[in-house]
Amino acid sequence: VTPFVVAVDGPAGSGKSSVSKEVARRLGYGFLDTGAAYRALAWHAEASGIDTDDAASVISSLASFDYRIGTDPAGYAVHVGEADVTDAIRDPQISAVVSRVARVPEVRTHLIELFRAIMAADAAPGIVVEGRDITTVVAPDAPVRILLTASEDVRAARRSAELVGSSTSDVGEQMRRRDAADAKVVDFMTAADGVTTVDSTELDFDQTVEAVIGVIRSSQ
Ligand code: C5P
Repeated sequence: VTPFVVAVDGPAGSGKSSVSKEVARRLGYGFLDTGAAYRALAWHAEASGIDTDDAASVISSLASFDYRIGTDPAGYAVHVGEADVTDAIRDPQISAVVSRVARVPEVRTHLIELFRAIMAADAAPGIVVEGRDITTVVAPDAPVRILLTASEDVRAARRSAELVGSSTSDVGEQMRRRDAADAKVVDFMTAADGVTTVDSTELDFDQTVEAVIGVIRSSQ
């Protein structure tokens, strides 16, 4: 059976994770946050004392990367081995180094296989998969493909509201740096052929969730 995959891509701070999770919850679908896997690998590399700038070391750390992620949007948790890293992977220190592990082609191949296995196992009645390359590389045949965007100012403001004690300009700067690094690896700023753009600049959270559900319904 072809899994009913809703593929969602977008830049940092576009709200893809929180919006995708809520869409999944309302539709009774599974939810897969692929960025969490790249973050978990960055956490694992740091915890193992590996230099994330050294691609060969990052690749060798894949062998001991025991990663588990829940696909239930209500009981969402990320584990590396026995450690619950759900909160730790959101740390600005991880955001600062995650692009270095994500740019390694062997890392991407390894994680993409993992994502496809999760999609195949947990796709009934559907699964919302979000990241940077889901609509183009991970699931280009998905029946629903969405690019979730928002203006840079709005994204920086949303991100800094999440991170207590940080100024919008610092957060905006880090976000821009991370997007620029990530954009060298995959294009998530423009919608590929057949991908529907949802621009949330003028929408609140609930309206964005409704807009995404609208796109899903119109394709069913
Ligand atoms: O989505 P999130 O901001 O948590 O993603 C963290 C990082 O993981 C991104 O900055 C990017 O380097 C990487 N990533 C990726 N491909 C994906 C999802 C995330 O390279 N599909």
